[in-house]
Amino acid sequence: MSLLENAMKRVVRLMPDKASDMLMDANRVVGLPLPRRDGGLKVTGSARFSAEVGMEGLAYAALVYSRIARGRIASLETAAAEAAPGVVLVMTHRNAPPMAPPPVMMADDAGAAASGLPVMQDDSIHWNGEPVALVLAETQEQADHAAALLRVEYEASHAEVDFAAARAKAHEPSSVLGEPARIEIGKPEKALAEAEVSVDLTFHTPRYNHCAIEPHALTVAWQDGSLLVHDASQMLHLTRSTLARVFKLAEEKVRVLSPFVGGAFGNKSVWNHQILAAAAAKLAGRPVRMTLSREGVFRATGGRTLTEQRVALGAGRDGRLTALIHTGIAGVTSHNDCPEPFTFPTRHLYAADNILLQQQVTELDMVANTFMRAPGESIGTFALECALDELAEKLEIDPIELRRRLEPKKDPTSGLPFSERNLVEAYRAGAERFGWDRRDPRPRARREGEWWVGMGVATGTYPYYRMAGGSASIQLLADGRAIVRMGSHEMGMGTATAQAQHAAERLGLPVEQVTFEYGDTDMPSGTMAGGSSQTASIIAAVTAASEVLVKELLKLAGNDSALGGLKPRDVEMRDAGLGHREDGTRFESFVSILRRAGRDELLVQAAAPQPMEGTKHSMHSYAAQFCEVRVNAVTGELRVSRFLGSFDTGRIINPRMAMSQFRGGIIMGLGLAMSEETLFDERMGRIMNPSLAEYHVPVHLDVPEIDAIWTDIPDPHSPMGVRGIGEIGITGVGAAVANAVYNATGIRVRDLPITLDKLL
Ligand code: MOS
Repeated sequence: MSLLENAMKRVVRLMPDKASDMLMDANRVVGLPLPRRDGGLKVTGSARFSAEVGMEGLAYAALVYSRIARGRIASLETAAAEAAPGVVLVMTHRNAPPMAPPPVMMADDAGAAASGLPVMQDDSIHWNGEPVALVLAETQEQADHAAALLRVEYEASHAEVDFAAARAKAHEPSSVLGEPARIEIGKPEKALAEAEVSVDLTFHTPRYNHCAIEPHALTVAWQDGSLLVHDASQMLHLTRSTLARVFKLAEEKVRVLSPFVGGAFGNKSVWNHQILAAAAAKLAGRPVRMTLSREGVFRATGGRTLTEQRVALGAGRDGRLTALIHTGIAGVTSHNDCPEPFTFPTRHLYAADNILLQQQVTELDMVANTFMRAPGESIGTFALECALDELAEKLEIDPIELRRRLEPKKDPTSGLPFSERNLVEAYRAGAERFGWDRRDPRPRARREGEWWVGMGVATGTYPYYRMAGGSASIQLLADGRAIVRMGSHEMGMGTATAQAQHAAERLGLPVEQVTFEYGDTDMPSGTMAGGSSQTASIIAAVTAASEVLVKELLKLAGNDSALGGLKPRDVEMRDAGLGHREDGTRFESFVSILRRAGRDELLVQAAAPQPMEGTKHSMHSYAAQFCEVRVNAVTGELRVSRFLGSFDTGRIINPRMAMSQFRGGIIMGLGLAMSEETLFDERMGRIMNPSLAEYHVPVHLDVPEIDAIWTDIPDPHSPMGVRGIGEIGITGVGAAVANAVYNATGIRVRDLPITLDKLL
C-alpha cells in the first residue's frame, strides 16, 4: 500500500457516497442463464490454448530440477545431453543471458512474479526443484530424453525445510497484503481466562498444490527485438511488465496473449519457466514451446503453504463472545510476499468484546508459496468455524443460532459499516432447503447400516476486491454491433459470456450484437483475474467507456436530431440507440447516428475510476455451507453425501456460470477437506507426490450432487452490485465437512486433510 494510496483513502472516506449504478436492478440481459460463448469452441477442440499455437521452426523445451534445497551446483556435465539426437541447446547458468530479477506480485506495481530471485544467473540453489538447466530440442520427446542425460552434482548447505524446527523463528511480517499483521482490541487473553465457557484449540493445514486441468505452458518468440508470448496466464498485463523488466525492454516491445486458460486458481502468474523459455528462444534464435509436466508444475510453481493456527474463544452462557483469538504461523520463503492471510475471515465475521488476531511467518527453503483459491479464507475459516462448532456444543446452542447471535452491527475490527451483508438470511434459506432441523445435535447418534451419518455447517466469506488500472474500449459498428475489448482473462469461469451480458445491458443492445474480446495485451489494460475481482473490475471500466460513448454519440448526432440540445445526464442507451430518459419520442438509433455522420464506426476508450468503494464500507461476500457426511464404522471411509452452499455474493450476472463457480469452489473445498495434501520430505525439502496419481483431487465418485442457492441482493457500493464469486465457494467447506464428521462420529479432526486413518 503506497503512501499516496493511503492518503487517497483518507480523503475518499470524507467524501459523500457516489450515486449508485443506475443499472443496479436492470434485468433485460443481466441475470439470464445464457450458455457459455466459448463452450462450442472448447468441446470441439477448436479453442487454441497457449501450448497449441503453431510457429515456424518451433523448438521444444524441457527443464532439469534441482535435487537439493539449498547450496550450489558443484559440477554440471552437459556433453551427453548436447550430443543427444535433436538437441538444439542446453542452457544453464553458464550460458543463460543476463536477466534482471523479476518484480514480485503485490510488492511491486509491475510485478507478476511469485518469487523475486534472479533466474539462472549463478550456481546457487534456493529450493528442491529449482530449474538448473533447460534443454531445447526438435521434439518434446528428444528434449525430455536429453534432459535425463544431464549430470549435476551439488554441494548442499543447511536448508531450513522442517516447519516444526523453523517455527521457533516465526515473526510478524511487516504487513499481510497491506493489512496489519496484528490487531488487538481490549484484553483478549484476560477475557479468555475469565470466560464462563471457552475453547482453546490448535489446527494444522498442510501444503496444497494447484492442479489446473491445463498445466502451465507457453509458446514464445522473439521478432525484431520484440517478445511475443502466448502464455497460460491470469495476469496478462503484469506478465508483460514483468518480462519487460527481466529482459530490459520497453513494455510496448512485449505482447502477451492468453485467450484460453484451462484453470488457474492463483498460480498462473510468472515463474521461472516463462523467463527461461524466453531466454532460450533468444539464445537459440528460434521460437520455443515450454509445457510443464505435472511434476514440473509441483517443482517449479508453488501452492498454498502450510499453517499452524490457534483459535481460542471465550463466551458467556448466552453465547456472546467475550474473547476472540485467532493467531498462527504460515511457512513462507525469503523471496516472496505471500503470508497466507488466514486471520482475514476472523476480522469481519463476528462480534466480540475482546479480539486478538496475529499472523506470523517463518521462512523455509522451498518453492515460493503463492495464492491459491481464497488464500487465507479457505484455511482460516477451517480453524475459526471448527472452533465455533466446538464452542456451540459446549454452550448447547445450535451452531446456526450461535452465529445469528454473533452477527455484528458494524465491522468488528475496522469499525466500518457493512455495504451489504445477508449472512443470517443465507443461513435461514440454507437451513430450510437442507433440512437442518432433521439434524440430531448429539454426535454418533445416527447410524445407517455400517455408516455413521452426520450434518455440519460453517460460514464462508471472501472480501470484495476491485483492482486498479483497468481500461476498456467500446467499438460501435455501422451495422449496430458492438465489440467491447479489455485485456482480461477467460479461464473457464464465463468471462466472455457474463461480460457480453453486462455490456449489452449497459449499451441497450441485444446480447447477440455484443462481443467481449479479451486475452491480449494489445487491448486496453486488463486487471488480473485474481481476488475474485475481475467481474467488478471489467464492469467498472466498461461503464466508464460507456459514459464516453454517450458523449461522443451526442456530438455525432448534432443539433439537427431528436437528441439536439440534450446533455449526457438527460439520455440513456436503450433499444439499440440513444434516447431521452423521460421523453420516449426523443430517440435515435446508433445505426442512424453513425450513418448520418458518415461513420463506419465509433471507438471510445476509458479507464475505470480508482477502486475506492472498499475504503468506506466493509465489503465482503458470505456463505452458509451445509454438509452431510457418511463415515464407515468399519473402514473409516468418509463420503460426503449431500452439500449445499447458500451464498450472499451481491448481484449475479449469469446464474448458469455462477452455479458452476460455486460448485467448482465447493469441490475444491472437498479436496482441501478430505484428500489433497502436498507431501513434503522434511529432510530433503522435496515434494514427494508431484502427480495426480498421488496428489488426490476429488474425482467424480468423490463428489455428490452439489446444490447452491444465493440471495442475489445487489451490493449498493459496487459496479452493478456484483461482488465476485470465484473464491467464496471453497471457503467454509473444510469446516463444514469437519463439523459434519464430528456430528457423525464424535471425532474432532483438527488437522487437514480428514483421511480415514484419523477416523478409526
Ligand atoms: Mo485467486 S487465489 O486470487 O486466483
